[in-house]
Amino acid sequence: MSMIAIALLLQSASPPPYAMPGEEPVEAYEVRPENAGAKPFEGDAMAKAFGGQDGIRRVVNRLIDLNSNDPVIGEIFVTEDRVRFRRTLFEHMCYLLNAGCIYTGMDMRSAHKNMGIQQADMNRMVENLQSAMDAEGIRFHAQNRLLAKLATMRKDVVER
Ligand code: HEM
Repeated sequence: MSMIAIALLLQSASPPPYAMPGEEPVEAYEVRPENAGAKPFEGDAMAKAFGGQDGIRRVVNRLIDLNSNDPVIGEIFVTEDRVRFRRTLFEHMCYLLNAGCIYTGMDMRSAHKNMGIQQADMNRMVENLQSAMDAEGIRFHAQNRLLAKLATMRKDVVER
């Protein structure tokens, strides 16, 4: 094999520039704002209500821990790439809350394809998100505004 072919192979195997060290490779997809599944909030009120990027990161980390240890939905997260998931879930929430991030993950339908997620799983995830937001002292009104936006993605996440 020529050096050029090897160089090309190596190039295509390298992770995208926004990936963190330790992430597993994923099939190629186009990074687009529409992948987030909804438009971000306008203004900075929601970003402030969540305590900016630091507060959002705490909520996301709590949510991931709750989901992974959950007796009902924990199993769905067993095979997840934790490094990537922590990054993309943070980016997603940060983007939607208009806290200064770009979402580089997949669209919601592709991200949850063939996971067999049911309405009960979705409800459980929402409960865990509420617990995570409560623990961080996020105001009820702000919690509900975010939950209302996420609810519009239900059709792309729930399969049955
Ligand atoms: C509106 C509700 C939901 C939103 C907004 C959401 C958001 C996301 C995002 C942004 C990603 C990352 C995609 C990527 O890395 O390209 C993701 C992946 C994932 N989600 Fe969700 N999700 C929702 C509901 C759920 C539910 C209900 C479950 C299961 C109970 C779930 C399980 C997963 C799993 C297992 C992954 C893949 C992690 C990996 O292997 O990298 N999600 N989700």
